[in-house]
Amino acid sequence: MKVTLPHLRELKIAGTPIVMVTAYDLPTARIVDSAGVDLVLVGDSAANTVLGHDPISTVRATMDELVILTRAVSRGCEHAMVIGDLPFMSYQVSDEDAVRNAGRFVKDAGADVVKLEGSGTSIARAAAIVAAGIPVMGHIGLTPQTATKLGGHRAQGREWHHAKRLYDDALALEAAGCFGIVLECVPASLAREITAAVHIPTIGIGAGHGCDGQILVLQDLLGLTTGFRPKFARPFLDGARCVSETLARFDEAVKAGTFPTPEESYS
Ligand code: KIV
Repeated sequence: MKVTLPHLRELKIAGTPIVMVTAYDLPTARIVDSAGVDLVLVGDSAANTVLGHDPISTVRATMDELVILTRAVSRGCEHAMVIGDLPFMSYQVSDEDAVRNAGRFVKDAGADVVKLEGSGTSIARAAAIVAAGIPVMGHIGLTPQTATKLGGHRAQGREWHHAKRLYDDALALEAAGCFGIVLECVPASLAREITAAVHIPTIGIGAGHGCDGQILVLQDLLGLTTGFRPKFARPFLDGARCVSETLARFDEAVKAGTFPTPEESYS
């Protein structure tokens, strides 16, 4: 059965941690879904993880690219809620753009809900998308689409006035109708306070232990990230080594003539 918004609220109330990961294709979506994760984000991190636009920045990801990836992931998820990630400049200009592009994720790509970054005008955009009938997840703290403005990939909300602003932004996103909020790279104590203050689930990434759930980028989690990896992105597998050792075994078998065998061939 599909994860629903009331179920996510129930998990928050029960104190049951919510598990969220990214995915960008059908085979991994199927694995992630059958592993029982609650939320799958087809993140604009695809710009770095699978599309090779830029090793760090997400701004080059486009609607067309993310719609194709989201369509593949949606087909692989029977249980997990699929989140389409509105890319940079798909919602910044107007409410109309925001609603139209959120609608593309749901109608063309099969996403269940969408996510957008930031506060300020993003709060009005979130309200407009919710009013159109599409559930929205907010994302504050380090918002990669505007990382340049924030001074790079660094923790946010360490000074009191900035922490207060993030706290107020979380309340404003809840008031705008968001069903959840990603808190990225904020001090653990601030994430805990925000989590206690809002009635919707918070999902942390580099935000400590006090959130209602945690998200990691799948490539980081599987140890497939070869370049920069932030300290919170724990690899739970040495995936790059597993893949290259497996390829070495294939290479060896081909060169030794032990692959394919007669059983692996047609007579
Ligand atoms: O695009 C992404 O993968 C994200 C997560 C890091 C939250 O926004």
